[in-house]
Amino acid sequence: MRMYDIIARKRDGLELTRDEIYFFTRGCSTGEIPDYQTAALLMAIYLNGMSDAEILNLTLAMRDSGETADLTEIEGHTVDKHSTGGVGDKTTMIVVPMAAAIGCKVVKMSGRGLGHTGGTVDKLESIPGMRTEITRHRLVEIVNTVGACMVGHSANLAPADKKIYDLRDVTATVESLPLIASSIMCKKLACASDCILLDVKYGSGALMKDIGEAMSLANEMVKIGRSAGKKAAAVLTNMDIPLGYAVGNALEVIEAVKVLKGEQKGDLYEICIELTAHMAHLTSGLPMAECRRLSVESIDNGTAFEKFKEIVAAQGGDPKYLDDTSLFVPAQYCSEIKAERFGYISHMDTQLVGEASRILGAGRALKDDNIDFSAGIVFEKKTGDYVEPGNTIATIYTNDDEKIYEAAMMIDSALTYSDMAPEKPPLIYDVIK
Ligand code: URA
Repeated sequence: MRMYDIIARKRDGLELTRDEIYFFTRGCSTGEIPDYQTAALLMAIYLNGMSDAEILNLTLAMRDSGETADLTEIEGHTVDKHSTGGVGDKTTMIVVPMAAAIGCKVVKMSGRGLGHTGGTVDKLESIPGMRTEITRHRLVEIVNTVGACMVGHSANLAPADKKIYDLRDVTATVESLPLIASSIMCKKLACASDCILLDVKYGSGALMKDIGEAMSLANEMVKIGRSAGKKAAAVLTNMDIPLGYAVGNALEVIEAVKVLKGEQKGDLYEICIELTAHMAHLTSGLPMAECRRLSVESIDNGTAFEKFKEIVAAQGGDPKYLDDTSLFVPAQYCSEIKAERFGYISHMDTQLVGEASRILGAGRALKDDNIDFSAGIVFEKKTGDYVEPGNTIATIYTNDDEKIYEAAMMIDSALTYSDMAPEKPPLIYDVIK
């Protein structure tokens, strides 16, 4: 078999066989196939697309390029939840303890933040002592005793995806549905949970800006999951507005605690109820109405918050910070962004908000950059809210006072105003079951 022929076949719109796809991913991760040939194939895939069978084979081949987690010693069905990424998306820290509190076994493997989107591992590590690198033995023990564990991806998870993703990044081939779907799902399959709930975001702060594209991605990923023998579902959720009010690592932990304690309702709370209910439905098969009732109850009776503290303590974190979030060391500088006119906020460019948070120190431009856990933004007003001159729209937090002006300008330019109240978009657009 020759890589040259595989590229030529894809260039000509032919369907690649399973053997050809495995030959490619194997050669690409060992380095036997040079980057220029991989790049050429990626562009041919970008231009000509892939059939469902090709996408499934690419996903399985990338999964098989590294380790698959061994969760066989966990008692009961395991469930994983994945978000395609957004701004202020702290749902994992809320739904994982909620789901565990109502009896799910949750193995949550997450990534770090890059660019305008945050990563759960960074958020969790802002809790002093919290460890997200855990041995398999300890992970199994924590899930069997506490019900959930939240860790980072192992170093040898889907190495072919890592290699391909780095090349996609520099060859203008990131925005390809078959490549995105296979990239996300190979890691989910390597994480090996029995059930997978996908939170596919759409809107100005999401990977997929367009709802139609988000729907196609969600459908494709659910198909892959099921073809690989998993129970899978996807929820399409709005990311045209930051989720909740806080953007930035420790600031998001503090907000997650408010929701878990039942002190904050609204968009974030509602999405978490739905996501938890779907996770419970996938694992237990109980009717959705019952799963929703249990999810709400886990907040109301305090068991979800207690579960979060148990998970954090089991992973070395200090639960005192959750009981009293004023213990988190605040950023040295803060500055308020004020409204300068009367009117409704009619739109937020959420990607710009994420960029502003990154500039303040809450995220990375390059993967080895350091994170400032205390940096970020807390909004008081979001899309749909009416403002008057002098009202505080947001407060920004940073330890680098030179960044305040740039970030404030960026947030200001992210906001659009109108005299009429904008239409409220649905929080959940659709569910693929
Ligand atoms: N996340 C991934 O893991 N891969 C992509 O291609 C896009 C988002």
